[in-house]
Amino acid sequence: MIQTKTNLKHIRSFVTDEQLLEYENKIENTFKTIYDKLGAGNDFLGWVTLPSEMTKDFIKDIKNQAELLRKKSEVFVVVGIGGSYLGARAVIESLTHQFSSLINKGDETQIVYAGHNMSEDYLVELLELLDNKDYSMAVISKSGTTTEPAVAFRILKNHLENKYGKEEAKTRIVAITDKERGALKTLANTECYKTYIVSDNVGGRYSVLTPVGLLPIAVAGIDIEELVNGALAMENYCKENRNSDNVVAKYAVARQALYHDGKTNEILVSYEPRLSYIAEWWKQLYGESEGKEGKGIFPASDIFTTDLHSMGQYIQEGLRNLFETIISVEKPSREIRIPLADNDLDQLNYIAGKRLSEVNRTAETATILAHVDGGVPNIIIQIPEISARTIGELIYFFEMGCALSGYMLEVNPFDQPGVEAYKKNMFALLGKKGFEERAAALRERIK
Ligand code: PA5
Repeated sequence: MIQTKTNLKHIRSFVTDEQLLEYENKIENTFKTIYDKLGAGNDFLGWVTLPSEMTKDFIKDIKNQAELLRKKSEVFVVVGIGGSYLGARAVIESLTHQFSSLINKGDETQIVYAGHNMSEDYLVELLELLDNKDYSMAVISKSGTTTEPAVAFRILKNHLENKYGKEEAKTRIVAITDKERGALKTLANTECYKTYIVSDNVGGRYSVLTPVGLLPIAVAGIDIEELVNGALAMENYCKENRNSDNVVAKYAVARQALYHDGKTNEILVSYEPRLSYIAEWWKQLYGESEGKEGKGIFPASDIFTTDLHSMGQYIQEGLRNLFETIISVEKPSREIRIPLADNDLDQLNYIAGKRLSEVNRTAETATILAHVDGGVPNIIIQIPEISARTIGELIYFFEMGCALSGYMLEVNPFDQPGVEAYKKNMFALLGKKGFEERAAALRERIK
């Protein structure tokens, strides 16, 4: 059952009915572009049917592999970057205890991450942790050639082999990559690692419901079947409702109407800190999909009420090019009430007896009204609770929303040509073969 709602009350005072109608009129054609594979990048639409095409055997295999790894690992290292990292982390942080590494009694496998930066301090400190822990790892790279995870994996592989010996190390490494291309596939074949394949028709940032996300998520002890069921509910809902009443279409239409009215920056907001990596994942999804050809909404994120004490001033009174999208969670999974104090020295007795979530929700309502009054339109996505199912729904919601929005913006939502620029410069400056001319030109500029 679909529970995600998009409440557009708070954008109606910013865009005219005609502007909304203009984009609503485009929505059926945009759905057609996606389902009939008529648009740019149409060979990357595999994500559309991933939930419905997932077999029970596949889920079982992922779960079995995860169980094997959990049994022998106090720590599981996920080596990847961008789309090969953010989806797994987003789901894991949404659905596990927020202090799991500190309260862990030794029976839960802790997930840590590598290959998503090139900080020497980070990696050395990670190795210090791994010196004293039983661990295994997944190395994830669709292309199999990305520098950050490749460097981290080379170092971690050495560490693992020194710790356990070459043969045992092989049983502690899983590779997730393209079916034939790339250095990682060659390495995995040579070393006989357990390997999962990412299909050609699913791009990195749309790959969370493939082994890229599902294996680490299962190792974290999360019910991947429920996650996929949530996404499936949203897949079916979208398939059956290819019109402007669809909540996903409403989100895409609102974004485009606001963007064309000068609201070029979107802040994804949640009042639940456990959703902060959902926002990181969302930023990649929307940033890489729409930010091209001199166009696109700039995706940012905040956790409230935390960031109301740092970014609140700007949002309320700064440059008026912002809108907010709130992921509003109806029901928390824990309960605590504010106690009554005899002396009321902190003057909080007026809210004594209330649940903290009630105060949090009141802060949410108060902030929405203040920001809307301050010239910041709000879109509200309401989910009933944070669970594997609703996170699955949300993932598909945002993926479809992104494809619709990208096509309405008339860009290819499935490529990322701009990501190559820094890589070429880095390869040149590092002295990689074939980049000599670029290296000479760059050195002139940084003399
Ligand atoms: O969305 C994308 O395709 C990229 O951001 C990639 O996910 C990221 O660059 C990592 O690539 P790879 O999985 O090939 O290592």
